[in-house]
Amino acid sequence: MQKDSFYKQLIDNNKGWVEEQLAKDPEYFEKLAKGQQPPVLWIGCADSRVPANQIIGAQPGEVFVHRNIANMVIHSDMNMLSVLDYAVNALKVKHVIVCGHYGCGGVQAAMKNSSIGIIDNWVRHIKDVYRLHKDRLDAIQDEKERFDTFVEINVKEQVFDLAKTSIVQAAWHKEQELHLHGWVYGLDSGIIKDLEVNVSNDSQLDHVYQLNF
Ligand code: CO
Repeated sequence: MQKDSFYKQLIDNNKGWVEEQLAKDPEYFEKLAKGQQPPVLWIGCADSRVPANQIIGAQPGEVFVHRNIANMVIHSDMNMLSVLDYAVNALKVKHVIVCGHYGCGGVQAAMKNSSIGIIDNWVRHIKDVYRLHKDRLDAIQDEKERFDTFVEINVKEQVFDLAKTSIVQAAWHKEQELHLHGWVYGLDSGIIKDLEVNVSNDSQLDHVYQLNF
């Protein structure tokens, strides 16, 4: 397929998909249009190879999605905070999953020194994670192993950054069920690794981050 006609093909693909769905269930879209009650919020990387719903076999209506470069949870990012607030307080999701991926360009950029542009300032948050774990990361000789480990550490930090938000802590204070998880997707295998960083209360947070309500 010619590259310049690819975007036109997308509209045709959409028509085909609509027909497919309607063949299975004539009321499919009418039902979806009534509202959503997804049990999961997904915070993933913007990378085109990590499409949230597709890799976990989720249907429309099942996953609330937020994606940015390197699946970051930046506590002053109004976009992320708004998605999180709506997911937790309006949709009442029970799980928030931060899903990173091996081979992440954003994480790789944070390990290097080249300036790429404005994105340098976003990547700086990932550099802060490197600095926090510098001793462990610098001790890994193999570059790929260090990169993979950094991807995992970054996901874990983002899970704890979620736990530090007033939104998540307020939900726990109200005894609302809310579990945070960290996953990493393998681009070359399609397999998701559960990092088993499961956070369901503020007990794992440094005292300075624990909020009283
Ligand atoms: Co990425």
